[in-house]
Amino acid sequence: MEPNISFIGLGFMGEPMAARILQAGYPLAVHNRTKEKAARLVQKGAVWCDSPGAAAQKSEIVFTMVSNSEVLEEISLHKNGILAGLKPGGIHIDTSTVSPALTQRLAGEYSTRDSFFLHCPVLGSIPQATDGTLLLFVGGEEKAFNRAEPVLKTLGSKMWRFEKVEQATHTKLLCNFFIATMISALTQALVFARKASVNPRQFLEILANSALSAPMYQTKGASIIERNFKPRFFLEHMFKDINLLVDAASALGVSMPSGEIAQALFSQAIGAGLAKEDYSSVVKILERIAGVRVS
Ligand SMILES: NC(=O)c1ccc[n+]([C@@H]2O[C@H](COP(=O)([O-])OP(=O)(O)OC[C@H]3O[C@@H](n4cnc5c(N)ncnc54)[C@H](OP(=O)(O)O)[C@@H]3O)[C@@H](O)[C@H]2O)c1
Repeated sequence: MEPNISFIGLGFMGEPMAARILQAGYPLAVHNRTKEKAARLVQKGAVWCDSPGAAAQKSEIVFTMVSNSEVLEEISLHKNGILAGLKPGGIHIDTSTVSPALTQRLAGEYSTRDSFFLHCPVLGSIPQATDGTLLLFVGGEEKAFNRAEPVLKTLGSKMWRFEKVEQATHTKLLCNFFIATMISALTQALVFARKASVNPRQFLEILANSALSAPMYQTKGASIIERNFKPRFFLEHMFKDINLLVDAASALGVSMPSGEIAQALFSQAIGAGLAKEDYSSVVKILERIAGVRVS
Protein backbone atom coordinates (compact mmCIF):
# COMPACT_ATOMS: atom_id res chain seq x y z
CA MET A 1 0.00 0.00 0.00
CA GLU A 2 1.22 3.54 -0.82
CA PRO A 3 2.36 5.53 2.26
CA ASN A 4 0.16 8.41 3.44
CA ILE A 5 1.63 11.76 2.40
CA SER A 6 0.82 15.30 3.43
CA PHE A 7 1.67 18.58 1.76
CA ILE A 8 1.83 21.90 3.60
CA GLY A 9 2.22 25.23 1.72
CA LEU A 10 0.05 25.41 -1.40
CA GLY A 11 1.39 28.52 -3.14
CA PHE A 12 2.70 28.87 -6.71
CA MET A 13 4.96 25.83 -6.35
CA GLY A 14 3.31 23.80 -3.59
CA GLU A 15 -0.09 23.36 -5.24
CA PRO A 16 1.17 21.81 -8.51
CA MET A 17 3.68 19.66 -6.61
CA ALA A 18 0.93 18.36 -4.30
CA ALA A 19 -1.25 17.71 -7.36
CA ARG A 20 1.50 15.51 -8.86
CA ILE A 21 1.61 13.39 -5.69
CA LEU A 22 -2.18 13.03 -5.67
CA GLN A 23 -2.27 12.12 -9.39
CA ALA A 24 0.33 9.41 -8.74
CA GLY A 25 -2.18 7.70 -6.42
CA TYR A 26 -0.82 8.53 -2.96
CA PRO A 27 -3.39 9.28 -0.21
CA LEU A 28 -2.80 13.00 0.41
CA ALA A 29 -3.60 15.32 3.34
CA VAL A 30 -3.11 19.08 2.84
CA HIS A 31 -2.80 22.24 4.92
CA ASN A 32 -2.23 25.86 3.98
CA ARG A 33 -2.42 29.09 6.00
CA THR A 34 -5.04 30.36 3.53
CA LYS A 35 -7.55 27.51 3.38
CA GLU A 36 -9.13 28.56 0.04
CA LYS A 37 -5.93 27.64 -1.82
CA ALA A 38 -6.54 23.97 -0.91
CA ALA A 39 -9.96 23.88 -2.59
CA ARG A 40 -8.83 22.50 -5.99
CA LEU A 41 -6.81 19.71 -4.33
CA VAL A 42 -9.68 18.81 -1.97
CA GLN A 43 -11.97 18.59 -5.01
CA LYS A 44 -9.52 16.10 -6.52
CA GLY A 45 -9.56 13.92 -3.39
CA ALA A 46 -7.06 15.43 -0.91
CA VAL A 47 -8.10 15.62 2.76
CA TRP A 48 -7.99 19.02 4.48
CA CYS A 49 -6.24 19.30 7.90
CA ASP A 50 -6.56 22.28 10.24
CA SER A 51 -2.89 22.53 11.28
CA PRO A 52 0.58 21.35 10.21
CA GLY A 53 0.59 19.03 13.24
CA ALA A 54 -2.77 17.48 12.26
CA ALA A 55 -1.46 16.85 8.73
CA ALA A 56 1.71 15.27 10.14
CA GLN A 57 -0.33 12.93 12.40
CA LYS A 58 -1.98 11.48 9.29
CA SER A 59 1.22 10.79 7.34
CA GLU A 60 4.48 8.93 7.08
CA ILE A 61 5.98 11.62 4.86
CA VAL A 62 5.24 15.36 5.16
CA PHE A 63 6.26 17.76 2.37
CA THR A 64 6.53 21.51 2.91
CA MET A 65 6.91 24.34 0.38
CA VAL A 66 6.74 27.68 2.19
CA SER A 67 8.02 31.22 1.76
CA ASN A 68 11.07 31.41 3.97
CA SER A 69 13.11 30.18 6.94
CA GLU A 70 10.92 31.85 9.56
CA VAL A 71 7.78 30.10 8.29
CA LEU A 72 9.54 26.74 8.02
CA GLU A 73 10.83 27.04 11.59
CA GLU A 74 7.37 27.97 12.90
CA ILE A 75 5.43 25.17 11.18
CA SER A 76 8.11 22.60 12.09
CA LEU A 77 8.70 23.35 15.76
CA HIS A 78 5.48 25.01 16.97
CA LYS A 79 3.52 23.01 19.57
CA ASN A 80 0.95 22.15 16.85
CA GLY A 81 3.74 21.76 14.32
CA ILE A 82 5.08 18.95 12.18
CA LEU A 83 7.66 17.51 14.59
CA ALA A 84 5.04 17.30 17.36
CA GLY A 85 2.62 15.52 15.00
CA LEU A 86 4.95 13.00 13.32
CA LYS A 87 4.83 9.38 14.47
CA PRO A 88 8.16 7.65 15.28
CA GLY A 89 10.14 7.16 12.06
CA GLY A 90 8.14 9.88 10.24
CA ILE A 91 9.87 11.97 7.57
CA HIS A 92 9.57 15.71 6.92
CA ILE A 93 10.89 16.80 3.49
CA ASP A 94 11.15 20.55 3.04
CA THR A 95 11.40 21.79 -0.56
CA SER A 96 11.56 25.56 0.11
CA THR A 97 14.63 27.77 -0.36
CA VAL A 98 15.78 28.51 3.19
CA SER A 99 18.85 29.01 5.35
CA PRO A 100 21.49 26.26 5.65
CA ALA A 101 21.80 26.97 9.39
CA LEU A 102 18.08 26.17 9.81
CA THR A 103 18.08 22.95 7.75
CA GLN A 104 21.12 21.72 9.70
CA ARG A 105 19.39 22.57 13.00
CA LEU A 106 16.12 20.88 12.04
CA ALA A 107 17.94 17.70 10.96
CA GLY A 108 19.58 17.62 14.40
CA GLU A 109 16.35 18.27 16.33
CA TYR A 110 14.33 15.69 14.38
CA SER A 111 16.98 12.99 14.87
CA THR A 112 16.78 13.41 18.67
CA ARG A 113 13.01 12.76 18.42
CA ASP A 114 13.15 9.57 16.34
CA SER A 115 12.09 11.39 13.16
CA PHE A 116 13.85 12.46 9.96
CA PHE A 117 14.28 15.83 8.28
CA LEU A 118 15.40 15.90 4.64
CA HIS A 119 16.04 19.07 2.69
CA CYS A 120 15.04 18.86 -0.96
CA PRO A 121 15.13 22.33 -2.56
CA VAL A 122 14.05 22.38 -6.21
CA LEU A 123 15.26 24.09 -9.38
CA GLY A 124 12.59 25.00 -11.93
CA SER A 125 9.39 27.00 -11.71
CA ILE A 126 5.63 26.54 -12.07
CA PRO A 127 5.73 24.72 -15.47
CA GLN A 128 8.30 22.19 -14.18
CA ALA A 129 6.39 21.75 -10.89
CA THR A 130 3.25 21.05 -12.95
CA ASP A 131 4.76 18.48 -15.30
CA GLY A 132 7.07 16.82 -12.75
CA THR A 133 10.37 17.91 -14.31
CA LEU A 134 11.89 19.82 -11.40
CA LEU A 135 15.55 19.23 -10.56
CA LEU A 136 15.80 17.96 -6.97
CA PHE A 137 18.72 18.29 -4.55
CA VAL A 138 18.10 15.84 -1.72
CA GLY A 139 20.14 16.10 1.47
CA GLY A 140 19.88 13.94 4.58
CA GLU A 141 19.84 10.42 5.91
CA GLU A 142 20.07 7.57 3.40
CA LYS A 143 17.41 5.37 5.02
CA ALA A 144 14.85 8.20 4.96
CA PHE A 145 15.78 9.00 1.35
CA ASN A 146 15.30 5.37 0.30
CA ARG A 147 11.77 5.36 1.73
CA ALA A 148 10.91 8.71 0.12
CA GLU A 149 12.53 8.14 -3.29
CA PRO A 150 9.42 6.78 -5.11
CA VAL A 151 7.32 9.80 -4.16
CA LEU A 152 10.19 12.22 -4.92
CA LYS A 153 10.27 10.75 -8.43
CA THR A 154 6.75 12.08 -9.05
CA LEU A 155 8.10 15.64 -8.64
CA GLY A 156 11.34 15.70 -10.58
CA SER A 157 13.10 14.44 -13.69
CA LYS A 158 16.55 14.40 -12.06
CA MET A 159 17.77 14.05 -8.51
CA TRP A 160 21.14 14.67 -6.90
CA ARG A 161 21.89 13.15 -3.49
CA PHE A 162 23.79 14.78 -0.63
CA GLU A 163 24.82 13.16 2.61
CA LYS A 164 24.14 16.27 4.71
CA VAL A 165 21.02 18.46 4.50
CA GLU A 166 22.99 21.70 4.33
CA GLN A 167 24.88 20.53 1.23
CA ALA A 168 21.55 20.44 -0.61
CA THR A 169 20.61 23.86 0.82
CA HIS A 170 23.94 25.38 -0.27
CA THR A 171 23.61 23.88 -3.77
CA LYS A 172 20.21 25.54 -4.24
CA LEU A 173 21.59 28.89 -3.06
CA LEU A 174 24.39 28.58 -5.63
CA CYS A 175 21.81 27.99 -8.39
CA ASN A 176 19.87 31.06 -7.28
CA PHE A 177 23.15 33.03 -7.25
CA PHE A 178 23.20 32.38 -11.01
CA ILE A 179 19.54 33.39 -11.41
CA ALA A 180 20.13 36.67 -9.54
CA THR A 181 23.34 37.58 -11.35
CA MET A 182 22.05 36.46 -14.78
CA ILE A 183 18.87 38.55 -14.48
CA SER A 184 21.01 41.48 -13.27
CA ALA A 185 23.30 41.15 -16.32
CA LEU A 186 20.37 40.64 -18.72
CA THR A 187 18.37 43.63 -17.50
CA GLN A 188 21.44 45.93 -17.54
CA ALA A 189 22.26 44.79 -21.09
CA LEU A 190 18.70 45.31 -22.36
CA VAL A 191 18.52 48.84 -20.91
CA PHE A 192 21.97 49.63 -22.33
CA ALA A 193 20.90 48.27 -25.75
CA ARG A 194 17.72 50.38 -25.81
CA LYS A 195 19.63 53.53 -24.80
CA ALA A 196 22.29 52.87 -27.46
CA SER A 197 19.58 52.31 -30.16
CA VAL A 198 20.43 48.60 -30.48
CA ASN A 199 17.21 46.57 -30.93
CA PRO A 200 16.81 44.48 -27.71
CA ARG A 201 15.16 41.60 -29.64
CA GLN A 202 18.06 41.50 -32.07
CA PHE A 203 20.47 41.47 -29.14
CA LEU A 204 18.60 38.47 -27.62
CA GLU A 205 18.84 36.70 -30.99
CA ILE A 206 22.60 37.24 -31.03
CA LEU A 207 22.87 35.79 -27.51
CA ALA A 208 20.77 32.77 -28.55
CA ASN A 209 23.14 32.02 -31.42
CA SER A 210 26.29 32.36 -29.36
CA ALA A 211 28.18 30.45 -26.70
CA LEU A 212 26.54 32.85 -24.21
CA SER A 213 23.13 31.31 -24.88
CA ALA A 214 20.91 30.38 -21.93
CA PRO A 215 17.15 29.62 -22.16
CA MET A 216 16.52 32.00 -19.27
CA TYR A 217 17.81 34.97 -21.32
CA GLN A 218 15.23 34.19 -24.01
CA THR A 219 12.19 33.60 -21.77
CA LYS A 220 12.84 36.50 -19.40
CA GLY A 221 14.17 38.77 -22.18
CA ALA A 222 10.96 38.26 -24.20
CA SER A 223 8.65 38.82 -21.20
CA ILE A 224 10.52 42.02 -20.25
CA ILE A 225 10.16 43.38 -23.81
CA GLU A 226 6.45 42.46 -23.73
CA ARG A 227 6.09 44.10 -20.27
CA ASN A 228 4.78 40.87 -18.76
CA PHE A 229 5.70 41.00 -15.07
CA LYS A 230 3.00 38.58 -13.89
CA PRO A 231 4.75 36.79 -11.01
CA ARG A 232 6.01 33.22 -11.31
CA PHE A 233 8.75 33.80 -8.78
CA PHE A 234 8.21 36.79 -6.49
CA LEU A 235 10.93 39.43 -6.47
CA GLU A 236 10.81 39.29 -2.65
CA HIS A 237 11.82 35.61 -2.82
CA MET A 238 14.77 36.41 -5.10
CA PHE A 239 15.84 39.07 -2.59
CA LYS A 240 15.50 36.52 0.24
CA ASP A 241 17.68 34.05 -1.69
CA ILE A 242 20.44 36.51 -2.56
CA ASN A 243 20.51 37.57 1.11
CA LEU A 244 20.78 33.88 2.15
CA LEU A 245 23.61 33.38 -0.36
CA VAL A 246 25.56 36.44 0.79
CA ASP A 247 25.13 35.37 4.45
CA ALA A 248 26.21 31.80 3.67
CA ALA A 249 29.26 33.06 1.74
CA SER A 250 30.20 35.24 4.69
CA ALA A 251 29.80 32.29 7.11
CA LEU A 252 32.06 30.19 4.85
CA GLY A 253 34.64 33.02 4.48
CA VAL A 254 34.09 33.22 0.69
CA SER A 255 34.06 36.53 -1.21
CA MET A 256 31.08 36.89 -3.60
CA PRO A 257 31.14 40.48 -4.87
CA SER A 258 28.68 39.78 -7.73
CA GLY A 259 26.22 38.47 -5.15
CA GLU A 260 26.57 41.68 -3.15
CA ILE A 261 25.96 43.81 -6.27
CA ALA A 262 22.81 41.81 -7.10
CA GLN A 263 21.75 42.15 -3.45
CA ALA A 264 22.00 45.96 -3.68
CA LEU A 265 19.98 46.03 -6.92
CA PHE A 266 17.21 43.81 -5.51
CA SER A 267 17.18 45.85 -2.31
CA GLN A 268 16.40 48.96 -4.41
CA ALA A 269 13.61 47.04 -6.15
CA ILE A 270 12.09 46.07 -2.79
CA GLY A 271 12.31 49.73 -1.72
CA ALA A 272 10.49 50.70 -4.94
CA GLY A 273 7.52 48.45 -4.03
CA LEU A 274 8.21 45.64 -6.54
CA ALA A 275 8.23 42.79 -3.95
CA LYS A 276 5.11 41.06 -5.31
CA GLU A 277 6.03 41.38 -9.00
CA ASP A 278 8.05 38.84 -10.93
CA TYR A 279 11.77 39.09 -10.14
CA SER A 280 12.45 40.29 -13.72
CA SER A 281 10.75 43.59 -12.84
CA VAL A 282 14.12 44.59 -11.35
CA VAL A 283 14.62 46.04 -14.87
CA LYS A 284 12.33 48.92 -13.84
CA ILE A 285 15.01 50.26 -11.47
CA LEU A 286 17.56 50.41 -14.30
CA GLU A 287 15.03 51.86 -16.75
CA ARG A 288 14.23 54.64 -14.29
CA ILE A 289 17.92 55.57 -13.96
CA ALA A 290 18.50 55.50 -17.74
CA GLY A 291 15.21 57.25 -18.56
CA VAL A 292 14.14 54.59 -21.13
CA ARG A 293 11.85 51.56 -21.37
CA VAL A 294 13.21 48.39 -22.93
CA SER A 295 10.02 47.57 -24.86
N1 LIG B 1 8.13 30.29 -7.65
C1 LIG B 1 9.22 29.68 -8.09
O1 LIG B 1 9.53 29.67 -9.31
C2 LIG B 1 10.11 28.93 -7.12
C3 LIG B 1 11.01 28.00 -7.65
C4 LIG B 1 11.83 27.27 -6.78
C5 LIG B 1 11.77 27.53 -5.41
N2 LIG B 1 10.92 28.48 -4.94
C6 LIG B 1 10.89 28.68 -3.47
O2 LIG B 1 9.74 27.98 -3.02
C7 LIG B 1 9.18 28.60 -1.85
C8 LIG B 1 7.71 28.92 -2.11
O3 LIG B 1 7.66 29.76 -3.27
P1 LIG B 1 6.29 30.05 -4.04
O4 LIG B 1 6.71 30.71 -5.31
O5 LIG B 1 5.43 28.85 -4.05
O6 LIG B 1 5.68 31.17 -3.06
P2 LIG B 1 4.17 31.51 -2.64
O7 LIG B 1 3.25 31.29 -3.78
O8 LIG B 1 4.24 32.85 -2.01
O9 LIG B 1 3.84 30.40 -1.51
C9 LIG B 1 4.31 30.55 -0.20
C10 LIG B 1 3.63 29.57 0.71
O10 LIG B 1 4.08 29.81 2.06
C11 LIG B 1 2.93 30.04 2.89
N3 LIG B 1 3.20 31.02 3.95
C12 LIG B 1 3.72 32.26 3.82
N4 LIG B 1 3.80 32.88 5.02
C13 LIG B 1 3.29 32.00 5.93
C14 LIG B 1 3.11 32.05 7.34
N5 LIG B 1 3.49 33.13 8.05
N6 LIG B 1 2.59 30.95 7.94
C15 LIG B 1 2.22 29.86 7.23
N7 LIG B 1 2.37 29.75 5.88
C16 LIG B 1 2.91 30.82 5.25
C17 LIG B 1 1.89 30.60 1.94
O11 LIG B 1 0.60 30.49 2.52
P3 LIG B 1 -0.59 31.44 2.01
O12 LIG B 1 -1.15 30.75 0.80
O13 LIG B 1 -1.53 31.48 3.16
O14 LIG B 1 0.01 32.78 1.68
C18 LIG B 1 2.11 29.71 0.72
O15 LIG B 1 1.54 28.45 0.91
C19 LIG B 1 10.06 29.83 -1.59
O16 LIG B 1 11.05 29.47 -0.64
C20 LIG B 1 10.71 30.10 -2.95
O17 LIG B 1 11.93 30.78 -2.82
C21 LIG B 1 10.06 29.18 -5.74
